Amino acid sequence: MPFDITKSRERFPALRQDQVFLDNAGGSQALGDVIDSMTAYLSKTNVQLGASYHTGTQSNTKYEEGYQAAARYINAGRDEIVIGASTTQLFMNLASALQFKEGDEIILSKMEHETNVKPWLFMAERLKLKVKWWVSSKEDGLKLTPKNLKPLLSPDVKFVACTHVSNILGSIHDVRAIADVVHEAGALLCVDGVSFAPHRQIDVKAFGVDFYSFSWYKVYGPHVAVLYASHSAQKYVKPLAHFFNPTETLEDKLGFAASNYECVQSIPQITKYLDGAFNAITEHEGKLQKILLDFLNSRSDITILGSNSPDSRHRVPTISFTVKGVNSKQLVAEAEKISNYGFRWGHFYSKRLCDEVLGLEPQGVTRVSMVHYNTEDEIHGLVEILKKIMP
Ligand SMILES: Cc1ncc(COP(=O)(O)O)c(C=O)c1O
Repeated sequence: MPFDITKSRERFPALRQDQVFLDNAGGSQALGDVIDSMTAYLSKTNVQLGASYHTGTQSNTKYEEGYQAAARYINAGRDEIVIGASTTQLFMNLASALQFKEGDEIILSKMEHETNVKPWLFMAERLKLKVKWWVSSKEDGLKLTPKNLKPLLSPDVKFVACTHVSNILGSIHDVRAIADVVHEAGALLCVDGVSFAPHRQIDVKAFGVDFYSFSWYKVYGPHVAVLYASHSAQKYVKPLAHFFNPTETLEDKLGFAASNYECVQSIPQITKYLDGAFNAITEHEGKLQKILLDFLNSRSDITILGSNSPDSRHRVPTISFTVKGVNSKQLVAEAEKISNYGFRWGHFYSKRLCDEVLGLEPQGVTRVSMVHYNTEDEIHGLVEILKKIMP
């Protein structure tokens, strides 16, 4: 059966409430099947993993099926992933375990959520590495590209981190092209896939990345995240495991005492739901973003941060803007007074981008972040609200 966008809403219990959810880049609603599977797990099979009695073996199997589904979903090997509390936590674990030589260089971007910066600054301090900053200008469309990366690369650079999609700008970076130039220079590439994952299929092998992470709570699931590290990149990872435990897989190396059981075992519900869905999702999200962008583009007092084109090849429906003469906090407050629409203002933890690159006020942007379960009617409704509250 092809994926049916109109029926998708029925799969999310939260969408039966009187609330329009447009802060999905902050966190998506959870699938009903995820909620049911977690209830069933906690009701019947919530025992410590690794046991051989009947219920124990059921728990072991469910947890393992969660891992298998997560690995298959991103085209990784079972031994190339670890599931943990959040992307931030997994990057911190990785930053505590990676090994480079004193004086080696790393490149960090200023277009990031702080999740893909702080862990590497911590690593740089720990290993005495030199940090170089990668910035994209307005002339480059605020996009990270091989062209604006190349001048920073050299044989001393061993590690580069960048985002797949900015959680403010919504633009999709060509991660494959970036990975190719990073590898030519002999370095490793780590990508934050958090804002990409709800919108497109992930294939870590096709992307050619060394490390990749995203959070399932933004992909219709519970609060848990996955990190991929290729077999070859794992050579740089010194296991954090207890001395008597195995150190073969990425889970052994960085997973500590296993992650949240009920969350991990629910992952097959998400991957089943999204199987074969992304063509329909991309097409529908393209329609949603066009409705909002057409309105924002029609007003000379509005600045869209990121691409103003609705072309789905270049952006996802995470749309940020500022309005001349109205700060973002005020705008959101006015919308909340007259509607049941939920969207937000701020820097969304991309503080270096908002302050240093975009030069924004402390209230940052107004961000509307849509996903496939939003409807065209909801976005037409949003345009009417914005018309009412704008000067
Ligand atoms: C682009 C991006 N990266 C990372 C994160 C942090 O993810 P987590 O909460 O799983 O650490 C977020 C959360 O908003 C995000 O938008």
